[in-house]
Amino acid sequence: MRIDINGTERELPDDSRVSLLDFLREHLHLTGTKKGCDQGACGACTVLVDGERILSCLSLAIQYQGRSVLTIEGFASEGALHPLQQAFVEQDGLQCGYCTPGQICSAVGMIGEVRRGVPSHVTADLTQEVASLTSEELRERMSGNLCRCGAHNGIVQAIIDTYGEHRRAAE
Ligand code: FES
Ligand code: FES
Repeated sequence: MRIDINGTERELPDDSRVSLLDFLREHLHLTGTKKGCDQGACGACTVLVDGERILSCLSLAIQYQGRSVLTIEGFASEGALHPLQQAFVEQDGLQCGYCTPGQICSAVGMIGEVRRGVPSHVTADLTQEVASLTSEELRERMSGNLCRCGAHNGIVQAIIDTYGEHRRAAE
C-alpha cells in the first residue's frame, strides 16, 4: 500500500491506526507539518491531498492510499520559495512560525475552493462564479487556522498579494 508524498512514493505504515500527521512527522520525519491541538481545532496540521486542504491530525494515513499529499516541504522549487511563502516573508505573516506551514497549505487549498466557486459563510453574492478575495472573505475562509502570535493581518495581506487582483504569478 503506497502513498505519494511530495512527489515521492512511500510505503504506508502497517498499523492502520497511524494518523496522517504522525505518519508524516514520526515515520517520514517531515516535521514541517505541525501538531498543535491534535483534535481538529487549530489548523496547524493542514496539508493538501490532491489539492484539497485536510487536517492530517484527524485523518488516518491509510485513508489516502494511492493519493498525492503535498506538505510544506514540497512547496519550494529548485531552491526558490513558492510565491506565497515569499509573500509571507515580505508581509510579516509569521512570528514564531508554528502555524505557518498549515496557514500556507490552507491558503492554497482555499484558493482552489474560491476558484471552483465554493461560497463561504460571508459570500454576499451567491450568483458570482468566483468570490472576490476581500479581507472579510479571506478571514472567514482561513478561520480554521489559528495564529497565537496574532500575525493574521500579515497572513491576509500575503494571500492578497499572491492571489488578489494585482497578484504576482502563483499556482
Ligand atoms: S493539530 Fe490538527 S487541527 Fe490542530
Ligand atoms: S506565527 Fe506563531 S502561531 Fe502563528
